[in-house]
Amino acid sequence: MGTYFELNTGAKIPSIGLGTWKTSPGDVGRAVIHAVQAGYRHIDCASVYGNELEVGEALKELFASNVVKREQLWITSKLWCSDHAPEDVSKALTKTLKDLQLNYIDLYLIHWPIRTKPGTEGFKVENMASLCLHETWAAMEGLVASGQARAIGVSNFSTKKLEELILNSKVLPAVNQVECHPGWQQSALHDLCKSSGVHLTAYSPLGSPGTFLKGDILQEPVVIEIAEKLNKTPAQVALRWGIQSGHSVLPKSVNESRIMENLDVFNWSIPPELFSKFSTIKQKRLLRGDFAILETGPYKSVEELWDGEI
Ligand code: A2P
Repeated sequence: MGTYFELNTGAKIPSIGLGTWKTSPGDVGRAVIHAVQAGYRHIDCASVYGNELEVGEALKELFASNVVKREQLWITSKLWCSDHAPEDVSKALTKTLKDLQLNYIDLYLIHWPIRTKPGTEGFKVENMASLCLHETWAAMEGLVASGQARAIGVSNFSTKKLEELILNSKVLPAVNQVECHPGWQQSALHDLCKSSGVHLTAYSPLGSPGTFLKGDILQEPVVIEIAEKLNKTPAQVALRWGIQSGHSVLPKSVNESRIMENLDVFNWSIPPELFSKFSTIKQKRLLRGDFAILETGPYKSVEELWDGEI
């Protein structure tokens, strides 16, 4: 299993990326610099994380000190829900590129299948707008044509929503970035991605321990048992499970030694007799998206948001 996966565009996405969600300005620049110095070549960003300016400063420093060249890095960002209107899509990416101090993005994703009114913040009853994914997707396709984005994709799409998009798109989505870890394996989505050539990227690949999501996958007995047998840490086993499943993974850390630890997942593998044990782990979605269930929004229940995958 290599250090990258090939997308349906022919581009190579590095298997490990640094997650920057929940990393506050003040910490994120340092984490990006440590990660790239340690060998990460993929940084996962989003305008809504509120830290792209600082990521941009860190990238500038890394380029200026010749640690890495722009073309050696893979940078992903995401279109926020209030920018779904077709006329706002390119403007939103222009702002992200300005903040990141870049002239193109490797991958740009629709962050959620949810639309809010332009200029509003947060999911509130008065902010919700009617969802029209096909017109937003057409504007995303324009970003590839203009060269602002090298690849486009989606995030937080259920199997059903991804299937519908595939059937109605001129440019096939390159990626669907979703919650995925041994405790939420996304097997139906994994199968659709595999058969349709859409790459699955896993966010919260460690199950987000120590955050409000309170995942406990690093305490899962199966993961611990495999880690002990292979002389690895539970985090490395969780990440290696993702990579062996064919997913790129985005562990978030602000800690230098954990950033290093999370990169040590390449020169070893989980043998088939241990890999099969992951199928016994109880499944539970951590990020349910209850915050997006509003009477004025497109989804009246969490089941509807995920089309039953809950
Ligand atoms: P920290 O930033 O202090 O390292 P996820 O990527 O699944 O969302 O998980 C992120 C959480 O996991 C953060 O709280 C992060 O804390 C912690 N974390 C990152 N790497 C490791 C690791 N190797 N072992 C244990 N916890 C980790």
